[in-house]
Amino acid sequence: MQKINAIRGMNDLLPKDAAAWSYLERTLADLTRAYGYEQIRTPIVESTALFQRGIGEVTDIVEKEMYSFEDRLNGEQLTLRPEGTAAVVRATIEHNLIYDGPKRLWYTGPMFRHERPQRGRYRQFHQFGIEALGFAGPDIDAEIILMGQRLWDELGLQGVRLELNSLGEAAERAAHRQALVDYFTQHQAQLDEDSQRRLQTNPLRILDSKNPAMQTLIEGAPKLLEFLGSESLSHFEAVQTLLKANNIPFKINPRLVRGLDYYNLTVFEWTTEALGAQGTIAGGGRYDPLMERMGGKSAPACGWAMGMERVLDLMAISKSIPDSEPVCDVYVLHQGGDTLVQAMIAAEALRSAGIDVILHCPPDGQSASFKSQMKKADASGAQLALIIGPDELARDEAQLKNLRGTGEQHAVPLSGLLVAVVDALVDS
Ligand code: HAM
Repeated sequence: MQKINAIRGMNDLLPKDAAAWSYLERTLADLTRAYGYEQIRTPIVESTALFQRGIGEVTDIVEKEMYSFEDRLNGEQLTLRPEGTAAVVRATIEHNLIYDGPKRLWYTGPMFRHERPQRGRYRQFHQFGIEALGFAGPDIDAEIILMGQRLWDELGLQGVRLELNSLGEAAERAAHRQALVDYFTQHQAQLDEDSQRRLQTNPLRILDSKNPAMQTLIEGAPKLLEFLGSESLSHFEAVQTLLKANNIPFKINPRLVRGLDYYNLTVFEWTTEALGAQGTIAGGGRYDPLMERMGGKSAPACGWAMGMERVLDLMAISKSIPDSEPVCDVYVLHQGGDTLVQAMIAAEALRSAGIDVILHCPPDGQSASFKSQMKKADASGAQLALIIGPDELARDEAQLKNLRGTGEQHAVPLSGLLVAVVDALVDS
């Protein structure tokens, strides 16, 4: 029969990588606790309109990357979430989460974008994100950036750079946009096909073009920072002052525009050269207009999200993934029949006391030799082997073998098994 494979760009997370993912998830949980963030979980499927309105119609994500479909039963237009911010804002409005003041929220989970798969770019990928809702000042912009920096430090990531920009407010962007349209219209002949189209729809995105032939043209384009008014400038300067006071290095990149349309004021990305073309490990910024755009009461907000696959890749390159921990404490060996019954009872008793146990289950359902079971016990990473054969059972005993270090083995009474195992684990 022909086998069925996973969808292109959607990956299995295999057991060999599970320890690294768990380590990252634990580090993230500690980080969110350290800054007072609460977890939120939103559905993977949302109304298509949520992302069209939230992310913006004229973005790559909405124009060409969304997994959208019609619900066959009721005709609703649905989409697999391509990011988390729009849904967090929806949930905040729907459940009135900030009625009594601002909230710091975090989330993690799979996101879906129909992009061309390559290293670090997948169609199902995982994000960890934070959203600080209801805070207007530059202090929170700085705090969420500090949080990111702390995370990279905790994870031992090397060569991560922070790029910062301010997108100002709508009126400032409109003035800049007009100047851009004038500039690019004057040089229309040098624009590639994509940029010609963007000139009509979203000229700001021309600045994002990676086309080498257009870089000099883009370099000479009017810069948004030159159009910022005093309030936007002072917000931007306050963020920078706080970052400098906390020794966070950053570079201002006036061309940083981000690929989602909800941002204003501060935007930023963390990038690395170590991952090749997909070097942005995280990005975010302030999105004060979004709450109102989604039908809620106007409220300021900012946040960022990181690509977990990219961060794990960089952790592997930085050699900062700790060696995997043993998957269990005790591996139980037996010879089937009555010895299996006793082995299973012993394993359950140990688990009830919080000890992690693997009970040998022969793949063919037949009992295997102790020699081959011992090989499995060794490979399992367990600290101890508990051996219950017919001879041991006849004496109401088991053999306890230390699989690491000394390799010492001795008989223990079944009645005193728990104490013996705990003692041996403490000693090992
Ligand atoms: P984003 O820049 O679109 O922002 O995505 C955040 C991160 O997700 C990227 O920096 C990258 O590491 C990862 N990522 C994006 N697409 C892929 C992909 N196809 N494969 C693997 N990783 C990917 C957002 O999504 C915003 N919601 C961030 C935010 C939160 N802004 C404010 N709050």
